[in-house]
Amino acid sequence: MNGKRTNWPLVIGGAVLVGLLLVACLWVVWSGMSAFLTSRTTPPPEYRSNGAQIYFTATSQRGTPITSDFRMGMMAGGRVACVTCHGPDGRGGQVRMMMSTFDAPDIRYETLTSEEHGAEDEHEPCTDETIKRAITVGFEPDGEPLDEPMPRWTMSQADLDDLLDFLKALD
Ligand code: HEC
Repeated sequence: MNGKRTNWPLVIGGAVLVGLLLVACLWVVWSGMSAFLTSRTTPPPEYRSNGAQIYFTATSQRGTPITSDFRMGMMAGGRVACVTCHGPDGRGGQVRMMMSTFDAPDIRYETLTSEEHGAEDEHEPCTDETIKRAITVGFEPDGEPLDEPMPRWTMSQADLDDLLDFLKALD
């Protein structure tokens, strides 16, 4: 014996504290993981169709990737979807983004395919095919490229069909 005595209450107290910290850490990691996993596997319930989910979030219920070449991409808060510019009702309007302001057109199916729209915008009424072309490669029916703010989108054919169905359902 060299006279040193172990301070047992301190040792036990310390061990309990370390144990509690460990449990807290595990809990944080676990809840983070499960939140991450459920956000990956369960689609938000508020979107009644895959087309609506694509329009509002640029994600697919099919799990297939949706990407765009959106160039104002450093925008705070992450990704853009159709709704960011064309609005929740598809009617478009003025968009303020980063340092610029621009007008996004009305993209309800009825508007895009009507004669009046063609006359007003000096291009012919759209068809299903030319609307898909506008979304994916950014051309108007007459071959004119769409202006810069409109991103070019890459998504599966099935997702594109769902999205078009959503535009058809807007009124
Ligand atoms: C960052 C803003 C922005 C986002 C996001 C965006 N658009 Fe656009 N979009 C525009 C602008 C601006 C135009 C008009 C371009 C022009 O007139 O040259 C346009 C044009 C269009 C057109 C052609 C309209 C016409 O009159 O010929 C369609 C169709 C369209 N967008 C669909 C979509 C869909 C579907 C999405 C989502 C997958 C989307 N857009 C996302 C800005 C956006």
